Amino acid sequence: MPSCPSPTTDTAPPSLLPMAGRTHGNRSPVTCHLRCGDACSVPAPNTTETSYFRDVAAKVLSRRSVVGTGLSVAALTALPMTPAAASGPQAGRGGHGAPGTLPFSPITPQAVTVDDVTVPAGYRWDAILRWGDPILPGAPAFDAAQQSPEAQAGQFGYNNDYLDIIETNRAGTSALLVCNHEYTNETLMFPPGTAPETVIRTAWAAHGMSVVQLERRRRGDTWAYVPGARLNRRITLDTVFAVDGPAAGSDLLTTKADPTGRTVRGTMNNCAGGTTPWGTVLSGEENFNQYFRAAGTDPREARYGLGAQDSRNWRSVDPRWDATSEDYRNEPNRFGWIVELDPTDPTSTPVKHTAMGRFKHEGAHVIVNRDGHVVAYMGDDERFDYVYRFVSRDTMRTGSSAAARRHNLRLLSEGDLSVARFTGDGLEDGVSDGTGAWIPLTRDGQSMVPGFTLEEVLVYTRLAADAVKPTKMDRPEDVEPSLHSGRIYVACTNNTDRGKVGKEGPTEPNPRPANKDGHVVEMIPTDGDHTLDTFSWNLFLVCGDAASAGRYFGGWEGPVSPISCPDNVAFDSEGNLWVSTDGQPNAIKLNDGLFKVPVEGPERGHVQQFLAVPSGAETCGPVIRDRESSVFVAVQHPGEDGSWTAPQSRFPDYVPAGITPAAGQFAGPRPTVVQVTRT
Ligand code: FEO
Ligand code: CA
Ligand code: CA
Ligand code: CA
Repeated sequence: MPSCPSPTTDTAPPSLLPMAGRTHGNRSPVTCHLRCGDACSVPAPNTTETSYFRDVAAKVLSRRSVVGTGLSVAALTALPMTPAAASGPQAGRGGHGAPGTLPFSPITPQAVTVDDVTVPAGYRWDAILRWGDPILPGAPAFDAAQQSPEAQAGQFGYNNDYLDIIETNRAGTSALLVCNHEYTNETLMFPPGTAPETVIRTAWAAHGMSVVQLERRRRGDTWAYVPGARLNRRITLDTVFAVDGPAAGSDLLTTKADPTGRTVRGTMNNCAGGTTPWGTVLSGEENFNQYFRAAGTDPREARYGLGAQDSRNWRSVDPRWDATSEDYRNEPNRFGWIVELDPTDPTSTPVKHTAMGRFKHEGAHVIVNRDGHVVAYMGDDERFDYVYRFVSRDTMRTGSSAAARRHNLRLLSEGDLSVARFTGDGLEDGVSDGTGAWIPLTRDGQSMVPGFTLEEVLVYTRLAADAVKPTKMDRPEDVEPSLHSGRIYVACTNNTDRGKVGKEGPTEPNPRPANKDGHVVEMIPTDGDHTLDTFSWNLFLVCGDAASAGRYFGGWEGPVSPISCPDNVAFDSEGNLWVSTDGQPNAIKLNDGLFKVPVEGPERGHVQQFLAVPSGAETCGPVIRDRESSVFVAVQHPGEDGSWTAPQSRFPDYVPAGITPAAGQFAGPRPTVVQVTRT
């Protein structure tokens, strides 16, 4: 594979981009390179044989050919509420598409040249936090031309992804913003000529997570962040993490620097996440492989995409990034986990949960089952990879006592991991639906996979899963249960390899060959019980624009906003699904956006676009606070294809070309958390 240019070179877009000329439409090869290490330029690492059930014919799908739920609306709404649903602050009934407190007319889809956040009439947007804004006490004002590792470690990180706003007082005037910082774009972040070690160490500090206190005068106002506040925190690649669960201390996790296998420095490539009912935040370590040099000859490395492709050359500064050395051959095994952070305690040690398995974790969303067990749903975001479920051994304790809190902070440390197999019903009824099973990987602290120890199942989860023949999905990203209905929504972003020669063809839950637009699967736990090992499912959305084959919108026959590449999902207080996208510029030549979709009632499937993000950006972390007529998004990688000297976006500071930025401002694009409110 071609190597890549030093991040300090000036900066016409890097010339050795493996995906250059191979992406579709407007897809940026820079995004491919920086975010997932050119994953699409190499074969998908899942080379196992095809899924358990038969392929369906690769026919061009008519609108009706993928239709239907097989369940009446009455049956769906009869699902029992979970404790979380019954008690949660967003609890309500519906998902029927009622305008509620956030009425809007869908925006016009935006061309890829529009360098603005586009919101509906009657709404406005404000930047809440931008890359480089000082957070910790003593952190300097942002000055991109003089950036240093020390400054960045006290400032908001780069490429915000998962986002939540957690209110901390009854009046709703104080909150914690918790955010992931997935990856860095050195070409945009550093002026030409910056010393390579400065670039690398600053990038380490720009990865990770942020916790930032917010305040406002009254509920419904725009939030402002509080520099230097007591709970403000940065998590970087130097933050100490504890490893817990059955694989903690395993020989598979030890290195020269950590012979115990129980302490890891840092987290990285943190993509999506979830907030738990006990107030912690989960974060998924996703494309960790790209940061390491590895031999890649061992199947246990190859299955995770580990190889010689460490284009950021971090090993030049710290040998732990060189997994070809005996001292650090296990360092990649220490990434690819779900991490848990308690944002209310700045002295707490964040945790990597081995019980939840190791793969390219997009995120994890928790629901409390009616018996009190905590169930987390998780996607492995790679072409032809799997959907997973974790069920806690113990049950959640309610109440705010210190003992209950200590107990709940251990809930994700022990439990059963399983992987999803979807089976089409096989009926020639023109309906894409069926049943499914959770195939156990671990149970009661034992491996359920012949030939794998418990530690091996958890550290090499992809290989263990391969052995039990789950269903290969089209890049499963967010997998989130609705707290209203108990149904689970799986955003499958895309998979243009489906049906290629030598690759698995269309299957009922992944029905399109060369799937460039993605789809959303709806899963229904048997008897509404998230701990049972069976479920039913149907295709809820099959995305695209008018030119895309096989579109389907939950049975809705009226007009919809074009939508492609569903990535993150969220719910509003009425139970409507909100979908953010990653890849529309490529797939349908429109800026990425955020969309509302009712999941029940006569408007089930009626997709309406709420906002669009600026040129080159992806819509991350949607948070919907419809009762306050407010929506938050994390605008990630705006102007991704540009460079320091030739920015392709000026969002959000919009410093005119040729004008020296004022203090704290930047001439180029800044990944930014945006709040949208009603005017
Ligand atoms: Fe980081 Fe799966 O998107
Ligand atoms: Ca994502
Ligand atoms: Ca069927
Ligand atoms: Ca994505």
